[in-house]
Amino acid sequence: MPAEIRISPLAGAAEAEACARMMADSEPWRTLGRDADASLRIIADPAREVYVGEDDGGLAGFVILCLVGAFVGYIQTVCVAPGRRGAGLGSRLVAFAEERIRQVSPNVFLCVSSFNPAAQRLYERLGYEYVGELRDYLIPGASELLFRKSSGPWKTFRPLETR
Ligand SMILES: CC(C)(COP(=O)(O)OP(=O)(O)OC[C@H]1O[C@@H](n2cnc3c(N)ncnc32)[C@H](O)[C@@H]1OP(=O)(O)O)[C@@H](O)C(=O)NCCC(=O)NCCS
Repeated sequence: MPAEIRISPLAGAAEAEACARMMADSEPWRTLGRDADASLRIIADPAREVYVGEDDGGLAGFVILCLVGAFVGYIQTVCVAPGRRGAGLGSRLVAFAEERIRQVSPNVFLCVSSFNPAAQRLYERLGYEYVGELRDYLIPGASELLFRKSSGPWKTFRPLETR
């Protein structure tokens, strides 16, 4: 049975700090050298939207979106609490992010580190198409792989209505 979570906008400093700690303690961000302070700066950036997934056990995961800029509709981060991975929560957070992005763009973009093949497989399974490689983008010797999921060209795009 798919795991159920409630997804809502990030609320408050304590939740932001919990997300930043979860991110900083996890791969791929450990290898990328993104500590809790750097993670918190991203989470607190007003240009981002952050949504948290919670269940009776508390914070289960979160997703960070960027809905402005050259690649409108960018899923910057998806993170599920280590003990809860592999139970469908990540797919659920991505589906939520896609629905939010389809209110403003036909394209959903994301990047995956070259040393994170499990996440690459997950995104491919969810319908993401590999676009290209950004070599030595965040750290030397590793690439960020750009993926896109499109519902069609901008020309025919009709925003998904807000529920
Ligand atoms: C990637 C991540 C968000 C997926 O969330 P999830 O709840 O584990 O994903 P789901 O249960 O919906 O799907 C499971 C799939 O995710 C993949 N996956 C990626 N990293 C995983 C991990 N650390 N643990 C378990 N599954 C992982 C598995 O390959 C699995 O696919 P499979 O069923 O074909 O084996 C989550 O594992 C995570 O937070 N990983 C660490 C951070 C990360 O890599 N984020 C993505 C950065 S772009």
